[in-house]
Amino acid sequence: MKFAKFSIVAMVCLGMIAVLETGCVHDPIEGDVDPDPVDTTVVENPCEPDIVYFERDILPIFTTNCAFSGCHNAESAQDGVILTSYENVMNSGEVTPFSLSNSDLYEVLIDDDEDKRMPPPPRNKLSAEQINLIAEWILQGAEDLKCDYEMECNLENVSYSMDIRPILENGCIGCHNPDNPSGGVNLDSYTGVKVAAESGRLFGAVNWSPGYVNMPFGGIQISECKIDKIQAWIDQGIKNN
Ligand code: HEC
Repeated sequence: MKFAKFSIVAMVCLGMIAVLETGCVHDPIEGDVDPDPVDTTVVENPCEPDIVYFERDILPIFTTNCAFSGCHNAESAQDGVILTSYENVMNSGEVTPFSLSNSDLYEVLIDDDEDKRMPPPPRNKLSAEQINLIAEWILQGAEDLKCDYEMECNLENVSYSMDIRPILENGCIGCHNPDNPSGGVNLDSYTGVKVAAESGRLFGAVNWSPGYVNMPFGGIQISECKIDKIQAWIDQGIKNN
């Protein structure tokens, strides 16, 4: 009897969860949840050094430089372009696999005409490294390849130059440089990052802790591994290593 009651309650709950979940299927911000059970059972899928992985390498560039309110998030969708997930990026029609000259999404990054360049001024041009990564991804076929990069989240001896600087370069420096130190925060030098780290604001902002402004501003939170790396680097003494 007890069991029967329990299973009825359980079934009602599961039913509600199922209803709630189907309501969220098309929410582009649910990118972290992989609904495909096959993927979660893949144990051995190491990242190859020469392959550009969309979710690991490309999506963070878009979410932190382009997919804001007023620009290319789902609500604003300037020119119909939404850059919050692989499907949205491909549906924009701005990427032609294997062809840079037919990929407007690439062309706007290197346009010398400031009226056409993305991100538009006063935002900085993407870095040469970021532009090269996007080019390589398109030339490799603009696929949504996956590897177990989060499983490789190594928190030992986190390095400022190898781990922290690349995270900030991809996602933060566009809004936190000497010309544009949003919120008085300059993340374009070790000294500036140290100040933000020591005050607790760096971790608070990326962890979306209460009392801090969520960063990237108006964007999607950086991955758990990146947040953990920032925390580990702070715990390990905020070294300029
Ligand atoms: C689109 C521009 C933009 C991006 C990208 C961005 N920030 Fe910010 N950031 C801002 C603005 C604007 C403020 C000031 C917000 C305020 O005071 O209301 C700010 C404030 C901050 C603060 C102070 C927060 C506080 O509550 O004291 C920190 C720390 C910070 N950002 C770190 C980061 C980090 C780290 C990243 C990258 C993961 C990042 N930001 C990405 C625009 C940005």
